[in-house]
Amino acid sequence: MSKNHELMLEKANESIEKVKDIVKYSKYRQRYHFMAPAYWMNDPVGLIQYKGKYHLFYQHYPYAPHWGSMHWGHAVSSDLVHWEHLPIALAPSEEYDYHERGGCFSGSAIEDNGVLYLFYTATTNYGSGFIQTQCLATSTDGIHFNKYKGNPIINEPPVSGSSDFRDPKVWKYEDAWYMVIGSSRDKRGKALLYKSFNLYEWNYVGVLAESRGELGTMWECPDFFHLGQKGVLMFSPMNLGDRKAVYLVGDMDYKTGKLFWSSIGEVDWGFDCYAVQSFLDNKGRRIIIGWANSWDWMPWWRGFGPPASENWSGSLTLPRTVELCPDGKLKFAPIEELVSLRYDYNTMSDIIIKENKRLPVRAGDGISYEIIADFDLTKSTASSFGFALRCSETEETLLECDISSGELVFDRTHSDNWSEGIRRCPLESASKDSIRLHIFVDTCSVEVFTDDGRTVMSCNIYPSEKSTGIYIYSRNGSVKLSNLETWGLSSIW
Ligand code: FRU
Repeated sequence: MSKNHELMLEKANESIEKVKDIVKYSKYRQRYHFMAPAYWMNDPVGLIQYKGKYHLFYQHYPYAPHWGSMHWGHAVSSDLVHWEHLPIALAPSEEYDYHERGGCFSGSAIEDNGVLYLFYTATTNYGSGFIQTQCLATSTDGIHFNKYKGNPIINEPPVSGSSDFRDPKVWKYEDAWYMVIGSSRDKRGKALLYKSFNLYEWNYVGVLAESRGELGTMWECPDFFHLGQKGVLMFSPMNLGDRKAVYLVGDMDYKTGKLFWSSIGEVDWGFDCYAVQSFLDNKGRRIIIGWANSWDWMPWWRGFGPPASENWSGSLTLPRTVELCPDGKLKFAPIEELVSLRYDYNTMSDIIIKENKRLPVRAGDGISYEIIADFDLTKSTASSFGFALRCSETEETLLECDISSGELVFDRTHSDNWSEGIRRCPLESASKDSIRLHIFVDTCSVEVFTDDGRTVMSCNIYPSEKSTGIYIYSRNGSVKLSNLETWGLSSIW
């Protein structure tokens, strides 16, 4: 390891050491969602199972609860649920990756012959605008990482790209390695494809997929993988309004390097899911994790919410499995290991909830819990119904099935003193006989899975710890709750 890298890591780890015990007891701290030990985090990166452990790295600024020169934080887990924080893996330290508004940006991990390879974008500034190049660091113990002496391994974008040239995701197919990199040109987001036989020398193949003007100006964090016979590309488009995590499904042609996609959808419809990365675990599952925040839905001066006052910012979504449906859409499910957090089981069934008569529900302590609710639409007349979560006299968060418009609605208008906005997305089961909502609530987030996992929404809220009420309500008619199961979810820390 270079002397400078060693020094920069030491300084960063010391900074975290000083505050991490205070953050442990902060009010908004998530109980079962991954967080950095302190200060800022964004994208999950380098997800991999290596030498028997799940490794999770993340974009990290270890000096303040806001974005800054990027490091790679690091944690390991045996079950993808409980995490152990490790020392920071990468710090900006070399001429090619050092800058106060740059650093070691997002990337991915692979293993080859027992060696763990991290691919990341080095962002620096040689005077006019940013320079982004692709770099490599390796490890044989999964804890200490050496930056490759020959970095950068890709030192400029191809003509079909631009200086926005970041977030390499690497995978193997047959006898070669492939890398997809996010870029843009003429205000059209793109995923650029590279190929290598030795992980050090990369040749540009071409544009794997791109926006024709309808899919955003730059594609951050592209991630390509195979599901059965199909190829899937996920990315986070810039300047595409509410759409923060899009997927394309189609046929991958390695001869031309193109993904001929025929199906498109949202990995998550919520306010707070961005930069989603996938990996294949040794149970054969394709698992994704996203940053439970996003960049540009709010004016910059609003910042990222109350946790910054507690010396932290950012958490991750729950790990989710991805599967392909026969119609080419994807479906997502929370990983089964999460059941290990359940305690205090409650259930009810066959209850009609009348208009204006809220049904109280018990789930854990009303702050971190899981709910599975089934509604029978053949016995319901309501135009909409749903859950009021994290309720007190002054606060409530509404998660509503709007049958009349066929939408799932997340309403943060009265969630707390900070959050705002209503998010809507199509709810396929509004036109079916029943709706299942699978809901995860944590100190400051709500994730809901419905439509058999084809519709997912993740949103952050920051209610007071006194807001623990949970109710089912119905508007313009009644709804039949056919079955309800709830559990408290315990802390992973
Ligand atoms: C996505 C992103 C990436 C970049 C990283 C920087 O959230 O903007 O494109 O590599 O964050 O932290």
